[in-house]
Amino acid sequence: MKKITLKSFLLTFFLNASFLIAQTGGGMWIPNQLNEKEMKEMGMKISPKHIFNTHNPSIKDAVAHFGGGCTSEVISPKGLLLTNHHCGYYSIQSHSTVTNDLLTYGFWASNYEEEKPNEGLKATFIVDIIDVTSQILLGLSDNFTEQQRNIIIKNNINKICSTIKKEDYQNITILPFYNGNQYYAFITETYEDIRLVGAPPSSIGKYGSDTDNWMWPRHTGDFSLFRIYADKNNHPAKYSKDNVPYTPKYYLPISIKEKKENDFSFVYGFPGKTQEYLPASAIEQILEITNPSRISLRNESLKILDHAMRENKEIKIKYAAKYASIANGWKKWIGENQGLLKSNAIKKRKEYENQLVEQSQINLDTKNKNQSLVNALNDLYKNNSRYNKAYTYFNEVFYSNSETFRMAYIVSNLLNASDQDFEKIKLRVIKNVSSIYKNYDSELDRKVSSKMLSMYSMNIEPRFQVAGHEDFEKESSCNIYLTDLWENSYITRERGDLLSILSSDSKENIKYKLKDDAVLNFITPYIEMYRRKILPFHDDFDKKNDSLQRNYMNAQLKSFPSKKFFPDANSTLRVTYGKIDGYTPKDGVNYKPFTTLSGVIEKYIPDDYEFNLPKKLITLYKQKNFGPYSQNGDIIVNYIATNHTTGGNSGSPAFDAHGNLVGLNFDRVWEGTMSDINYDPSICRNIMVDIRYILFIIDKYAGAQRLIDEMKIVK
Ligand code: ARG
Ligand code: GLU
Repeated sequence: MKKITLKSFLLTFFLNASFLIAQTGGGMWIPNQLNEKEMKEMGMKISPKHIFNTHNPSIKDAVAHFGGGCTSEVISPKGLLLTNHHCGYYSIQSHSTVTNDLLTYGFWASNYEEEKPNEGLKATFIVDIIDVTSQILLGLSDNFTEQQRNIIIKNNINKICSTIKKEDYQNITILPFYNGNQYYAFITETYEDIRLVGAPPSSIGKYGSDTDNWMWPRHTGDFSLFRIYADKNNHPAKYSKDNVPYTPKYYLPISIKEKKENDFSFVYGFPGKTQEYLPASAIEQILEITNPSRISLRNESLKILDHAMRENKEIKIKYAAKYASIANGWKKWIGENQGLLKSNAIKKRKEYENQLVEQSQINLDTKNKNQSLVNALNDLYKNNSRYNKAYTYFNEVFYSNSETFRMAYIVSNLLNASDQDFEKIKLRVIKNVSSIYKNYDSELDRKVSSKMLSMYSMNIEPRFQVAGHEDFEKESSCNIYLTDLWENSYITRERGDLLSILSSDSKENIKYKLKDDAVLNFITPYIEMYRRKILPFHDDFDKKNDSLQRNYMNAQLKSFPSKKFFPDANSTLRVTYGKIDGYTPKDGVNYKPFTTLSGVIEKYIPDDYEFNLPKKLITLYKQKNFGPYSQNGDIIVNYIATNHTTGGNSGSPAFDAHGNLVGLNFDRVWEGTMSDINYDPSICRNIMVDIRYILFIIDKYAGAQRLIDEMKIVK
């Protein structure tokens, strides 16, 4: 008895200690719950009230969720908004024409009148964050089914939404945290007249493109500028020429002081999704099934696209954004898997699981409960693995990589829609299909589709196949078959125009006209198989997993009462902090935390698709025309720190110890992309553009002095 206690004590002590170390510096914290003591020990010079305050203006009033997937920040009293180039990309592209290509040459509005409106683009500020856990969980008990539970929660959410005080122009959202163990209400203000003000050319804003994406050392000027417009009362309003530049409650002062390694750094933004509290079996599934499936399929589709883009200039332009997006996920998952392996994530998580059970030894009941939770999760993931592979393959093959199949899939959904929903869905489908057609090449897509389909046939077990298609394992058979399909379809546009059929007709007529569309008929049995044999199991897994993961999270919170847990990212406002720091990705390699304009010039390859540079930038460099933005005779371009960020943090402001804006977050280093699952402070780094590079480009490169004049610069 004594022996066991000592052993488990030592185990607990050891694991606890290593876990606590691993936690330092990581985390995405709800901004009204900051650890002042730790932040100050790490170098912060301001009070958390400066960061988040609902009574007085604070930094949070300058940080806005941008376009749903990025972050942005107000940097002038006239509502000037800074975000990434890749976050403004769609807007910049949509204002571009062949004769006025803003993506290639950049854009700088020289007055308010030239600032360009963007339909549908929104910026959302957080007015207040309220803990409503006890009200939302009111009336629940452990023996309720998930369904009963969800009904009560939904009712409680509706009830509470109506009791929280807010202005007419504000909104309320209530969201789950810690997998549904806590709930917070957000009062928000969403501005809908957001105009494009400035963007560097892609050769600066996307410098290094896919080769450098997710990589350090990096040299990208990934920024663009927008402006929020409001009505005469400074409230949110749809676009109107009568709207005026928004007067913010707070805007960020910008420091151009020198930076050093080890400087305190914090980042404020809207991280999208992390999964930091998964059981080992879930990480195993990501590592062994989900990621390898996605990676191997995208390996092939990217190869085909890359080849075509190199052969043909028109294809290169058409496919640039699509390629970037497929490659962005692909490269991240490769890095994630390498990092999970290198950091021994599964072994560590198993030890942590043991600890979770051991920790509960005082209370046998809790110990048994935790053990059966871990067992249940293991079983759930084990049973899910075959479905997970089929699910992942289906979505990659028929949705993410093949555009023809994707269109067929969404048209098929439309044809299956109820009469009541039909018109609404039809509008969405038309919008979706038109945007695919803008950059669609049916011949190239056939090659991709054919490769994807033959990989599906080869790697997915027979019960998830369609009878009669056994031959598709051979790519040549697939290719011949699809060539014929492609010639007999409206979707590939061989037989006519799908859009005009969709736009002008009733459900019955559309069905009739598409009744012998070859692609649609071909994909139908796949979709039916998916709906019958894959999707129900996937949905069932999701439901069970939601409930188990909620209990598992709860067990972690309860079993380690002294540990501070941050809630997984869920696209809500968070603060992460750390320090400017290099890292050692592998034996013998040591990365510094800063890159410079000299390094930009070193990577320059004239006329290259990824590493070309504007002549003017080279001239400025040669003349050392750096203005007040230099450090040690050079310009710092990018820098890295131990801030814990993820997708959605793009465009997030990065601050110094005094709360001055000093950088703009835009990426993470490759070796550390596993931070979404397993943050490791030794190799996880976020990448930021130094604000002085941004100012240098606006001031010296673009000559947009009027924008610099708006800002508050701290020297
Ligand atoms: N990796 C960054 C992110 O996840 C940047 C992506 C845009 N850049 C690119 N080359 N694809 O969004
Ligand atoms: N580029 C990412 C984004 O769009 C940020 C990089 C990351 O995932 O950390 O949000």
